[in-house]
This record gives sequence, C-alpha cells and structure tokens, in this order.
Amino acid sequence: MPLATSNTTNTTTYAMPQRTIYHGTFAHTPTPTTLTILENTSVGVSATGTILFVEPALSAPAAASKHAWPPSTYTTLSPSSTGPSTTTTFFFPGLIDTHTHASQYPNVGLFGSSTLLSWLETYTFPLESSYGDDARARHVYARAVRRTLANGTTCAAYYATVHVAATNLLADVCHALGQRALVGRVCMDRMSPADYRDASPAEALRATQAVTKHIRALDPEGALVRPVVTPRFAPSCTGECLGVLGEYARDEGLWTQTHVAENAAEIALVKELFPEHRDYVDVYDAYGLLGQRTILAHAVHLTARELGVVAARGAKVAHCPASNTALTSGCARVREMLDAGVDVGLGTDMSGGYSPSILEMARQAMLVSRCVAMQADGDEAKEMAKLSMAEVLYLATRGGAACVGLGDRVGAFEVGMDWDAQLIDLGRDVPRADADADAGNEDPLAIDQTQSPVDIFGWESWEDRVAKWLYGGDDRNVKAVWVKGRLVHRLGKSTSLGES
Ligand code: GUN
Ligand code: FE
Repeated sequence: MPLATSNTTNTTTYAMPQRTIYHGTFAHTPTPTTLTILENTSVGVSATGTILFVEPALSAPAAASKHAWPPSTYTTLSPSSTGPSTTTTFFFPGLIDTHTHASQYPNVGLFGSSTLLSWLETYTFPLESSYGDDARARHVYARAVRRTLANGTTCAAYYATVHVAATNLLADVCHALGQRALVGRVCMDRMSPADYRDASPAEALRATQAVTKHIRALDPEGALVRPVVTPRFAPSCTGECLGVLGEYARDEGLWTQTHVAENAAEIALVKELFPEHRDYVDVYDAYGLLGQRTILAHAVHLTARELGVVAARGAKVAHCPASNTALTSGCARVREMLDAGVDVGLGTDMSGGYSPSILEMARQAMLVSRCVAMQADGDEAKEMAKLSMAEVLYLATRGGAACVGLGDRVGAFEVGMDWDAQLIDLGRDVPRADADADAGNEDPLAIDQTQSPVDIFGWESWEDRVAKWLYGGDDRNVKAVWVKGRLVHRLGKSTSLGES
C-alpha cells in the first residue's frame, strides 16, 4: 500500500492511513495469574487499529518480511531508537476504569471523614446539581477525560448527572478525545434534593432515552462511545423507576450500571425501603437489572446468597478499593468473587475515590486484599485472600474489559484485538556517580522531579521493573496512549516516541 497516492486528475495528494509495527518489550496478563513479558517483539497493527500479528523475538523488518509487508507500507515505532531508555521502556495494555463519576472529578480528594450517605449530601449532590450549566460541564468533562487518558485509561464507564445536555456533552468529549466510554445519565426519583431528581419514573426513562438517542447518533456502531442505563442505586430509585429502566435496558439490549452493598447504613436503608425483598441484590434482580450486561460497583458486603445470584446472572463487579477505604465502607473480598466465577474490574469511583489512576487502584486492590487477609482466620485463608501482582494487573486490563463487554477486543496483546495500549517509560537507569565523574560538576545523582519517580538501577529483572512501576509509577511514566491505533495522549509535546 503506498504511503500517499497522487490523484492525476486534480493533483491532490491523499495521505493513506498507515500500518504500524510497534517494536520493543511488551508486558501483559493473558490470564489472571500470568504476567507475560515479551522482549524484542514486533506487533503489527492495521491502519484501523487491529493487531494483525504478534512476533516475539523478531525485529520489525524481519516481522514485516514474514508477513509480506513491503518496507514503504508501514511505520515503525520502536522506543529502542530513542536511545538510553531502551531497557526501562515497555508497552502495556490500556487501563480500564469500570466505575467512575466524571461529574465528581472536581471533588477528588475532598471527603473529610464522611461516610457514604453523609458524603452524598455534603459533597456530591451540591456539585452534581450544578451541571445544568453546560459551560461548567464542558469545562470539567474535558479536563476529567484528559486526566484519565494521561493516566493510561483507554476506556471508562462514566456516570454523569441527571442533566441530559451535560451527559451528552460528556459523550461528545470522550468521542472527540478518542477515549472509549460507556456514558450514563444518572437516574433518581427520590432521596436527593428536590431540584436534583427526576420528577417521575417516566421522566427518568424519557431523559435516558434522549441520551441513548444522542449517543447512537454520535457513534452508531458504538465503536468508541456507548450509552449505559444508570439508576444511581436502590435508595435513590423507587421500585417503579428501577422497573422501567430494567425493562428499557432489556428491550434495547443496553448495558446497565449501579451501586450495590457499599456501606452498612446504605444496606439497612435498602432493607427499610424494600421490605418485600430478601436482600439488596434481590431488589435489582426483581426489577430486571441483573444480567450479563450489568456492572455493579463496590459489592463490599454481599452475603453468600447475593454473591451466588450475581454469579448466576453473569453480572460484573467494579471493585473500587480507594473509595471503599476513603469512605470507610469496608474491604471487598475480591478472592471470593473471583472464586465464584464473577468478572471483576477496577474502578476509581471518583470522587469517593481520590485518584483518577487505575494503576493506583491496582496497588490499592493489592493492599485491600492484604487487609482482608489480616482479618481472615488461619494461615491458608490469609494466603488465599491476597491478590498477586499479575491478578491486580489483570483486573486493571482484561478483567475490566470483560466487565464492559470488550473482553475479546482489548486488554491484552493478541491477534484480532485492538491496539489500546500505553508506552511506559521508567526513565534512564540511575547513573553511577563514578562513571560520570569526568562529565563535569553536575551531580549525576541529583533527582529531577519532572522525570520518572521510579529508580531503576539496571540489575532488575523485567518482572521486578513492572512491580516497581506498579507500586511507584504515575502519569510521568505514561509516555503515550493509543485507542484503536489512534494516538490519544502523548507526554510532553516534544518527546520522540521512536517513530521511523
Ligand atoms: N452510591 C450512590 N451514589 C453514589 C456515588 O456517587 N458514589 C458512590 N461511591 N456510591 C454511591
Ligand atoms: Fe460510585
């Protein structure tokens, strides 16, 4: 395929979309318990962003020749060509945020010592109710999406607010900036301020339909952005409201998302509001809101019966460890969910959670699993409760992809999947003071805080480098981010990614 073709009738030159070979080190978690590192590997990606080959231990030209790609028909992106950082640079799948509130982004870090119900009243409803102002919505959403992209999040399941215009704007922003998203208009017809709720179940349905229509017009195939039916949680919705939304989601084949069993006072409230139901999960089940296309956030306090029903329906769980600790909600028992066969992903739950980073959630998931372990009885139970590095990275990528219905499209480096990826750069190895003694009077060990916060000394294995990134890395390490082959974020304006 030529790079550019000349149209002889009007001499216009058209740039053709380019195929790309990404070459270097790749890390991913093809299974929940395996972290695989592929060195000197070439991954061929089509002009439309699909992975066409994965060739371990082959240079880009060798892989191109094996797949009959003539030299002039592709671009090579090889961080090794940027020089000294070769050994600390690797590709990793894009991260998936299975539960977050774009509307609450300005409140990240603000929760004081509140717990769920007081936090909603004190912090959340006052902010969310202000999105009748479209300019504010545009301002906040553009920043929130850029911030999550900069942290390597290639796909997010978002809650907006009750406002239709502002929710549509969030979908527009995700689409324009190239982030995959499920965008949900929050439905609630009780237990929020009178000026911040749906007047009736019919109003909740009508507004949800309006958002679905907008998103379907924006992205008819749902290639990037999809609508998601979003009853806030059982306390905010009458049974009738849950029922019409459940029916609508089923009829239209739409995804749904809501919160479940996050906090003890909330669970007691659900018992009081829905006395005819045996438990919290039964409420959603009875109103048709529990199926393979349902994402349930938190699930901290599920009973064994409830977990069994969630597993039997094929519903997904968004584990939100930072939020659960910040709001003192509890420690979710992720091992039990995985053992029950439930798909689990990670959620930042901004602003119950204090961070936009799914990498931070992976490390928090690790720590929360250790809190569960410390409370478990007996050595075997303690050991079992702990999540491994591979497991939390799997939850951040493939696990999350399964939760949002993209399990066969993103989350790993496999032929047929889309190139949703990030280039992680851990920076140059820490220089040796003696080796640099002749270099002048600059202190070679001086710390440049604009660079990677992770110190690699050069003797670490690749597994250890990934572990150091997991525990110590941040957005300074995210050099580039792609969705469906499109570059959607680049660290700094001038850094070379190694294109040739
Ligand atoms: N339950 C109902 N609404 C919310 C919310 O906005 N955040 C969290 N964490 N839990 C909720
Ligand atoms: Fe939430």
